[in-house]
Amino acid sequence: MADPKIYRASTTAPVNIAVIKYSRSPSFAQLIHYRDTDCQTYRYWGKRDPRLNLPTNSSLSVTLSQRDLRTHTTASCSSTYAGPDSLLLNGADQSLETPRSIACLKSLRSLRAELEANNTSLPTLSTLPLRIVSKNNFPTAAGLASSAAGFAALIRAIANLYELPQPPEDLSLIARQGSGSACRSLLGGYVAWDVGHADDGSDSKARIVASKEHWPEMRALILVVSAEKKAVSSTAGMQATVATSELFKARVQVVPGRMKEMEDAIKRKDFAKFARLTMKDSNNFHACCLDTEPPIRYTNDVSWAAMQVVEDMNKTSSEGDVAAYTFDAGPNAVIYYTTDNRSVVEGRFDGVLTGKEGWVSSGNGLKREPNHADETLRNGISRVIMTSVGDGPVNIQDHLINEKGEASESTT
Ligand code: DP6
Repeated sequence: MADPKIYRASTTAPVNIAVIKYSRSPSFAQLIHYRDTDCQTYRYWGKRDPRLNLPTNSSLSVTLSQRDLRTHTTASCSSTYAGPDSLLLNGADQSLETPRSIACLKSLRSLRAELEANNTSLPTLSTLPLRIVSKNNFPTAAGLASSAAGFAALIRAIANLYELPQPPEDLSLIARQGSGSACRSLLGGYVAWDVGHADDGSDSKARIVASKEHWPEMRALILVVSAEKKAVSSTAGMQATVATSELFKARVQVVPGRMKEMEDAIKRKDFAKFARLTMKDSNNFHACCLDTEPPIRYTNDVSWAAMQVVEDMNKTSSEGDVAAYTFDAGPNAVIYYTTDNRSVVEGRFDGVLTGKEGWVSSGNGLKREPNHADETLRNGISRVIMTSVGDGPVNIQDHLINEKGEASESTT
């Protein structure tokens, strides 16, 4: 008789925010569509198989605390499930029939099948339908890297369910196929994703640059400008930029040096250096977006007001650079600072952000007349998330699927 057991495993996974941004290589179709007369673009980016989701450059991010931003996922499988594989995200059914999800599930199943082939006493979970339930504690698709935490949690939960022995660095090769930035969310602290050189992408994976404990003073203030879905998806936008922007070709030349400098700044806990590089990379990335055909603009007036406040604060502070802004594929600002300068940075935003959901006053207050940027921020920000550097995925026993295989509420 078939084993009727419901096998379950749960995890939480973090969001990460890049300080050196990743870009996805264009698809075959885009390479052909955008190829110039002498096939330069094709030759430039067509070297490795676009289906592997390989980046054009290495990237580096800070993993954020799961207290504030996390995806909680339970993966389960059973011979009693009718199938096909299913995913319930924040109470809504999501398709797992996308090329990205199919690629991830196929890789995880084949690793489990290898284990089963080597040890016939193991239950054959690799052939059973999967039922997955997932919940975010933050708005999905608000430009808050939900796909990074989502795919990282999906991969980690299934790897736990299948009791895969691979280290997170190896699982990052699978997560990358789901969403590029997800590969960095399998690790905690300060994480690089190396571009790699192998044609099969086997060396394009995540690596810890420094643990959370190395530099625990890092804080992130997230200014949520809009909780609406992104107008241009980051995937399509990035690929168009890589395929059409002349400026982007210069970007990939400078990123390797910037990566080295950033790793060094993190190792030496040199915030001023970290800040300069973070802002430079964000501005360079968004300049390339604007240089795309047709142009892409992710930031808006509120984002620019945040940049202005940070630039002014750094210019006037006696401590030098005390804060760094960065923007992903949307208008939300992420502002990094350390606890050493908390009173200067939080004090600068106090008054402007007082009353916003998530803002905890540092007690300093605005000691001057609000300027135009302050007003733009006050009117344009819907909520604030104040968080810090955090750990990688955590395996938990709090299941979102009960013993009968039904979706259930978290027990915490
Ligand atoms: C701008 O990982 O969301 O945030 O791989 O297409 O799913 P896909 O994209 P995603 O891209 C995020 C890009 C970025 C920069 C970064 O996080 O490195």
